[in-house]
Amino acid sequence: MEKQVRRSKKGRRSGVKRRKKIEPIYKRPELRSGLERRSGKDRRVQFSNPECGDDEIQEITDVLKSGWLTTASRCSMFEKDFAKFVGVKHALAVNSATSALHLGLDAVGIAEGDKVLVPTFTFTATAEVVRYMKADPVFVDCDLETFCITPTIIENILANDQSLITDNSLKAIIPVHLGGHPCDMDAILELSKENNIKVVEDAAHALPTKYNGRMIGTIGDITCFSFYANKTITTGEGGMLCTNDDNIARRVKIMRLHGINRDVWDRFSNGASWEYDIVAPGFKYNMPDINAAMGIHQLRKAELFQEKRQRIAEAYYESLRDIPGLILPKINCAMEDHSWYLFNVLIEPDKTLGGINRDEFINEMTRRNIGTSVHYKPIHRMTYYRDRYKLKPEMFPNAEWVYQRCVCLPIFSAMTDEEVDYVIQNIRELMLISFTSNAKTYI
Ligand SMILES: Cc1ncc(COP(=O)(O)O)c(C=O)c1O
Repeated sequence: MEKQVRRSKKGRRSGVKRRKKIEPIYKRPELRSGLERRSGKDRRVQFSNPECGDDEIQEITDVLKSGWLTTASRCSMFEKDFAKFVGVKHALAVNSATSALHLGLDAVGIAEGDKVLVPTFTFTATAEVVRYMKADPVFVDCDLETFCITPTIIENILANDQSLITDNSLKAIIPVHLGGHPCDMDAILELSKENNIKVVEDAAHALPTKYNGRMIGTIGDITCFSFYANKTITTGEGGMLCTNDDNIARRVKIMRLHGINRDVWDRFSNGASWEYDIVAPGFKYNMPDINAAMGIHQLRKAELFQEKRQRIAEAYYESLRDIPGLILPKINCAMEDHSWYLFNVLIEPDKTLGGINRDEFINEMTRRNIGTSVHYKPIHRMTYYRDRYKLKPEMFPNAEWVYQRCVCLPIFSAMTDEEVDYVIQNIRELMLISFTSNAKTYI
C-alpha cells in the first residue's frame, strides 16, 4: 500500500481531478485505525464497520448517568454543531433519514395524489416516504457514470409526460447524492424553479459532500442526512433535516414530536409551564440524547473520516485501474468533495480476462472473507412498486445496465492499510490470475 500511495502522490490517476496535495496515509499516524491487525487465513474484511471511540462512550455514559435519556441538551448541541458544520440556518435532529424525508415532504406540502420525482437507483426509503403522503413517485433513470439522476433525464420525463406540469400534479423532486457523489444541483434547482417544484435532497450518503464548493445541506429547500450504523458518521440510528427556511423549520419541529407546539425539553426544563397544545397529528421522530451524544463526537471526526475514506478510494484507483473489465467510479467532482460513502465498481464480464460476472465476483470475494454489497437493486424491480406502477426494466435502461454490473467494495474509516491491501491483492489475483481466460475455473 505504501508504494501505491506514493505513486498516487504523483497524481497519475486517470479521470480524477485533484486539487490539493495531501500527505499519504503511511506518513500520518493519526489517520491509521486503531483496529487490531489480523493476519493469515482468519483475516476478514467487513463491508463496513463503524468507528467509535472513548469520546462517544464517555458522552453516552454521562447521558445514562444524567437520568434524562430522551431529547434534551445533547440533541440541541448536536443540532447547533451540525448547522455550523454544514453552514445552514436550521439543523433538526430526528431518529432516521427516512423520518427526515417524511417530515420534509410534509413540510413542503405534499398531499394525496401529488407526484414526486424519485430516482429508481436508490434505497427504498427515498420512495416509500412519498407513499406515506399518499402521493405517487415518478421514477427517474440514472446516469451511467455517477449513478445519480441528471437534468437531461428529468427534462426527458417532463417532455414525455407534459401532464405532470399542465395539471400541476408534480410537486417535488428528491435528488439522491448516490454514494456521496453530488447531483448537478444548479441545473436541478433551475428546472425546479421553472416548473415550480420543491427540492428535498436525500443526502443519506453525502456527509461531507460539496457541490461546486458548497456543502450539501445548504442547497435545496430541504436536505436529509442519515446516521444509520454504516453511514459516514453514525448515531446508531438517526437523521438530520437541514433547511434555511424558517417556516419549514417551524413545521418540522412540531411534526417530529406528535404535533406538540413546543419541545418536551422546553416543557420540562426548570421553571417552564406544564401546559402544551397539539396543533397537528404529528409523528414520533425525535432523536434521543443517547444517540445525539454519539453524534456530537462523530461530527467532530467527520472530516478525518472523509480523509480516511478518500485515501482508500485513492488506493483502489491506483491499484485496480489496469484490470480489464473492472470499471472504477467516474466522478465529476474533486476527490475531497466526495464523501466516499460507497466505492461502487462495475464488472463487465465480456471484457474481463475470464468472463467473470458480478455475482461470481461477489461469491469469490465472500469465499475470500471480504464483504461486498450491491447498491442498488433498483426500485422498479421491487414487487410493490413494479406492480403498482406497472414498471418494466426497459423503462430504465441505464439503471438496469448499472444494476447488472455493480458491486461496492469495502470502504470505511476504520479500515486498516492491511485490509485495503488484502482487498486489492485478492481482486487482482481473482481477476488477473485465478479466473483463467479460457474457462470459468479457479486455480
Ligand atoms: C439513499 C438512502 N436514503 C435514505 C436512507 C434511509 O436512511 P435511514 O436508515 O437513516 O432512515 C438510506 C439508508 O441507507 C439510503 O441509503
